Amino acid sequence: MINIKDRVRNKELHAKIVSAEEAAASIKDGMNIATSGFTPAGYPKAVPLALAKRMEQEKFKVNLWTGASVGKELDGALAEVKGIAKRLPYQTNNAMRTAINNGEIQYTDLHLSHVAQMSRYGFFGGKVDVAIVEACAITEEGHIIPTTSVGNAASFVQSADFVIVEVNTSQPLELEGMHDIYVPLDPPHRQPIPLVKVDDRIGTPYIPCGVDRIAYIVPCDIKDDARPLAAIDDDARAMTGHLIDFLKQEIKAGRMPKNLLPLQSGVGSVANAVVAGLANSDFEDLTVYTEVIQDGMFDLIDAGKLTFASGTSITASPDGLKRLYANISEYRKRILLRPQEIANSPEIARRIGVIAMNTAIEFDLYGHVNSSHIMGTKMMNGIGGSGDFSRNAYLTIFFSSSVAKKGDISSIVPMCSHFDHTEHDIDVFITERGVADVRGLSPKERARVIINNCAHPDYQPMLLDYFERAVKATGYAHTPHIISEALSWHTRFLETGSMKIK
Ligand code: COA
Repeated sequence: MINIKDRVRNKELHAKIVSAEEAAASIKDGMNIATSGFTPAGYPKAVPLALAKRMEQEKFKVNLWTGASVGKELDGALAEVKGIAKRLPYQTNNAMRTAINNGEIQYTDLHLSHVAQMSRYGFFGGKVDVAIVEACAITEEGHIIPTTSVGNAASFVQSADFVIVEVNTSQPLELEGMHDIYVPLDPPHRQPIPLVKVDDRIGTPYIPCGVDRIAYIVPCDIKDDARPLAAIDDDARAMTGHLIDFLKQEIKAGRMPKNLLPLQSGVGSVANAVVAGLANSDFEDLTVYTEVIQDGMFDLIDAGKLTFASGTSITASPDGLKRLYANISEYRKRILLRPQEIANSPEIARRIGVIAMNTAIEFDLYGHVNSSHIMGTKMMNGIGGSGDFSRNAYLTIFFSSSVAKKGDISSIVPMCSHFDHTEHDIDVFITERGVADVRGLSPKERARVIINNCAHPDYQPMLLDYFERAVKATGYAHTPHIISEALSWHTRFLETGSMKIK
């Protein structure tokens, strides 16, 4: 067994150090398991792997609540042994996605800022039975020093019947001090969250727990399931260029300070390309208030352009993790991790005036966005934190390539096949074709700007034709649609393999 005694600072707690198998034996059929972890970072690994082994023999299921997506040792291993009945609030794992889409797992896709409070009120079918949290170390008082993410761990620990701590020796001790843990009181006792700048510290550097509430401590040395980043393609490069030009115009128009406003950037390859692109721009003294700190943020720090980044997880590629660990003493001066209830808080996003930048699967003529469903039915990942920010930001931007599947799909459609963000939330759309600034526009005005500035030329005439016929058919209605035709583009793709009319 790996020696973790120097990381468990209270000697009494050494008696609770057990194998992953012993800890996993405490988990019973039907339990609500709530874990640390956010976008494959800082999630428990050894206990879930041992639990999955047990499930192969004993055939039982648990409900899994996390911060956001977790790695293959948790989502993958438990989905593969059919060990999950209900999953929330976000996932990106292939085995999990398949099980959700074939009906084996009930999935509740939630705004990430809502999860902790909803779990405290018992809205997910009871209380937290066990919290399993990955830690760098445990303090003398029995408090938990998290690793590469915070997510919902602090709230889960607070409400769990008992706590299992996985002390992961692959996570550097220098992570200690990079966390700021604050769990708000629930209504009607809540106070304003006392955070007005991205670098404000308002809580403790550890997750409050206490010696008595820790039932088991498990050694682990499995690294976060970091995934390599996709190469930055021409579309992402073009979108970044449009974004930078647009932001410069905003500064010129006096609508934004020279160093912009705190940036939130979503997940995926486009999001990372956009942040990396900012590193090559002439913006300076940038700040970040986001969920996920990706490799691009290290580029910004290295280029001397980023003053401070607040998030809830560090989700780096394998190369990014090496970079972080090689220079952690410098990066830790500029990075802080908070619970997602604070990182994604609508109150804070509105107060500090975030620039929210997320990616859409598709958006429609009138400015509604689908972030989560393929062809209206299959779950991709989930809404994640995109809604927390897009509804409450100062400026809300959505990116998408104008086409998908080698041009057989137009990402701009007459009507979205699923709605995550509505016309009321979004200010700007950016594709590789250009920028549609729809602030203050009516639906019919929006449609023309979106078609002209963002749609692919192969689909522009079809979109315009639909729009003009819909306007006439409805007698210039507020939001013109030919309802029987609105989803025919999706039907055509499903039937013929292309949205183009052959
Ligand atoms: N219609 C159908 N399928 C589409 C599509 C469209 N309009 N646009 C993209 N797709 C498919 C792609 O072909 C790809 O499928 P594949 O896995 O079979 O290859 C899949 O959707 C993902 O597309 P990709 O271009 O690789 O996406 P990405 O890595 O840039 O991620 C999202 C895009 C929307 C899936 C991702 O950003 C997400 O999950 N967002 C929701 C959560 C979120 O925004 N969080 C941010 C807060 S931190």
